Amino acid sequence: MGFSVGIGLTNDCNLSCAHCYRDTQRVENLSLAQIQLICAQLPVDAMGFGTGENAKNPEFLQIVDYLHGRGVRLSLASNGYSLMALDDAHLQMFHDVEVSVDFANEHQQDAFRNPGNWALVHEVIARCQALHVPVSLLATLMSVNYDQMPELVDLARRLRVHLRVNAYQSVKTDVFRLTYAQFWHGYRTLFATAHVISCAEPVVRAAMGFADSHSPCGHTSIRFNPHGQVIPCVYWPTAATMPTIADLPRLGASVLESREFLAARQTPAVAAACKCQGGCASRRALRGELNAHDAYCPWSRGEDPRLVWTAAPAVDLMRSRNVCTTIVT
Ligand SMILES: C[S@@+](CC[C@H](N)C(=O)[O-])C[C@H]1O[C@@H](n2cnc3c(N)ncnc32)[C@H](O)[C@@H]1O
Ligand code: SF4
Ligand code: SF4
Repeated sequence: MGFSVGIGLTNDCNLSCAHCYRDTQRVENLSLAQIQLICAQLPVDAMGFGTGENAKNPEFLQIVDYLHGRGVRLSLASNGYSLMALDDAHLQMFHDVEVSVDFANEHQQDAFRNPGNWALVHEVIARCQALHVPVSLLATLMSVNYDQMPELVDLARRLRVHLRVNAYQSVKTDVFRLTYAQFWHGYRTLFATAHVISCAEPVVRAAMGFADSHSPCGHTSIRFNPHGQVIPCVYWPTAATMPTIADLPRLGASVLESREFLAARQTPAVAAACKCQGGCASRRALRGELNAHDAYCPWSRGEDPRLVWTAAPAVDLMRSRNVCTTIVT
């Protein structure tokens, strides 16, 4: 089986959302030559573009052409900008795409992103549906929208798309960090109003009753940031010493044995008996407590919550295990 690669072709963006983890110090772009090097050194099955607005990369179309030509399954997360920048033929080269929506009403969405974003999101969804490109809503569960999950489910239902939810990670600011109660309220109300296609958020997965709930991170999922660094997760605290794309000819797939990857898949000793096995490594690393419990771990608090949830019919729940997204319908 090949790798599912997450990649940021650029950290450039047309917006500057307050919660965003991307590095805004200076604009950096990956080149087509670097993408070709990755594909020459690793068996890449799928590539998902994120981090900035990827159409801002000067070689974006050449990169999409190249990867599509190699049969790599492509996906893209966007605020709408990159999805509108693509012509029909290039948009149809994507296996599926996501458009970010964090609030279920125009006023709050436009205030959080930028004026006109709500209308753009709707335009993008209509365009993708007309071109038969599967499109989902992508919401970040934060302290400012944790109580809007039912409304977001309802919006997704009205638009006839799936909803993907990722928990906020405090990369640059704690302003949007979820409290323990908000985190669980968000997932509880999400599952109360929607059917679950897949969930790979480790703590939530454990509370759903899955035995294989240890974090999938650092195993088969590889991320490349716009600086060219190879990282186990987009939120992982970066250091100058991390391996880069230029190291791949020397390291090949053994890049998965680098210090960061080993640390990401290490279960903290204190969590060895926990159902979540330490949960999310990035969340622990960002708190500077890699060897502690996940901040949202209920078992370390003596609680044993059982989330009530319903599986979406006829969907393989083992899908999407290499990212911590929760997908509902
Ligand atoms: C970084 S953006 C890149 C793609 C595109 N610009 C967009 O906004 O969808 C990808 C997703 O990450 C989310 N995101 C940004 N900062 C985050 C953070 N600190 N924690 C969790 N998700 C975050 C965004 O809301 C968006 O849904
Ligand atoms: S649109 Fe996406 S990449 Fe741009 S600032 Fe917002 S979350 Fe970050
Ligand atoms: S669960 Fe894994 S991919 Fe998700 S934020 Fe944590 S370390 Fe990153």
